[in-house]
Formats: sequence, C-alpha cells, structure tokens
Amino acid sequence: MLRKIILTEDGSHTVLAGEKKLAFHSKHGALQESAHVYIHSAFDFVTAAHPGKGVKIFEMGFGTGLNSLLTYKKATENNIHVDYTTIETEPLTGPEARSLNYCQKLDRPDLQPVFDELHDATWETHAVINPFFTLRKLKVALEDYQPSQLVDLIYYDAFSPAAQPELWSKEMFGKLISFLEPGGILITYCSKGDVKRAMKAAGFKIKKVPGPLYKRDIIRATRPI
Ligand SMILES: C[S@@+](CC[C@H](N)C(=O)[O-])C[C@H]1O[C@@H](n2cnc3c(N)ncnc32)[C@H](O)[C@@H]1O
Repeated sequence: MLRKIILTEDGSHTVLAGEKKLAFHSKHGALQESAHVYIHSAFDFVTAAHPGKGVKIFEMGFGTGLNSLLTYKKATENNIHVDYTTIETEPLTGPEARSLNYCQKLDRPDLQPVFDELHDATWETHAVINPFFTLRKLKVALEDYQPSQLVDLIYYDAFSPAAQPELWSKEMFGKLISFLEPGGILITYCSKGDVKRAMKAAGFKIKKVPGPLYKRDIIRATRPI
C-alpha cells in the first residue's frame, strides 16, 4: 500500500493512503480533530454520564493509533478503566508509526514508549498497557468482524462515504448498532444527510453536536434503551 505521512495545519501528522491519497484525518489538524470528535464529544460524554464506571470501546480503523493514544491518556489521567478493541486491515509499519509526532505535539515525550507499545502490541491478543487500559487489536475487516462482547462506545473512523460507501449504509449501521449496549453511543466525524438517514433507518437516535475547527457539526448516535 502506497502511504505518505504529511503535516496537518495544527502541526500534527496524518497519513495519506493509496493512489487516491485518502487522508486519515482532517487536513485542518489531526490532533485537534481526534481530541474533539472522539475524546471531548464521546469519551468525556460517556464517562460523565456514568461516573466511576469502566468503558468498553470499539474503534473502526486503528490507523495511526492516535485515538487509542488520546483515550489511554484521558483514561489514565482520570483513573477510568478502558477495554479498547480496534480493527485494522492495513496496519502501518513500525518505522511509519515511529515517525508520527503525536507525543511531541502533545508536549508529552514520556508517552512515546506507550505509543510504541500500542503499535507493537501483538495482533489478536489482549495487551494490558497499564491497570487502566487494555488493548485488543484485530487484523480483520469490519465486514467480517463479529464482536465477542457489547461495547459502550464506538469510534467510527472509517474513510469518508465517498471513498467507502459500503461502510456508511443502513445495513452496516444495522450491524454496528448490534455491537452496542442499550444506551451505547456511536460517534463519527461525518454529518452527511445520507449518513444520518442510514443511521436512523438502522434504529439509531441521532444528535448533531458541534464539530472541530472548520466543521459545523458531527454525529453522536445512540442505541435506544
Ligand atoms: C480514516 S482512517 C482512521 C484511522 C485511525 N482511527 C487514526 O486515527 O489514524 C481509516 C482506517 O480504517 C482502515 N480501514 C479501511 N477499511 C477498513 C475495513 N473495511 N475494516 C477495517 N479497517 C479498515 C484503514 O486502513 C485506516 O487505517
């Protein structure tokens, strides 16, 4: 797979993949996008609603590992137990992962060994990263994935509907809603009308929440209780 690492506008890296140069994050800022969409609008929302409770997370697309790093950081700072499962079909190589500047941009060089550990963790096994964060990476396509447990939160970080329309269909959201505990949340950066309609048709309750810089809104979808 042809891949290139580039800088986004907040100075953090992202990856461009394939001949179509699909971006893993917003070019306006990878770090600010991930922090806003997945941590502020979802992880913080879920943990505030259930103080003192652990969180089971499923991420679609491990990619750069940025969402898992930010979740590890937040969980560890706040003593929240996180059980994090992530899938990926085209993992980055070790040298690609080590060239990413997220720990430097977070001003947390002490997190670099953890970030390396997230990338080096053996696929298909549980890795206990610290007492608050367990990681399970699976090399499988979403289309073939069947979860072994329900989760509280889905980070839905697929490529855009234009690039991967099959991952934004009513059928796929029907599969995803079945991964969630009743009351569980799916968060995504995408707020396209077709996507909202597909989510609603699959049974999700939709809420538009403010997006990161340069994006009016994003979608937080709930599996009704
Ligand atoms: C938009 S990127 C986001 C990656 C990651 N969350 C990050 O912050 O770097 C989408 C990721 O999903 C992976 N992917 C694409 N299609 C997939 C599929 N069908 N099943 C699992 N992973 C897939 C890609 O290889 C890529 O790493």
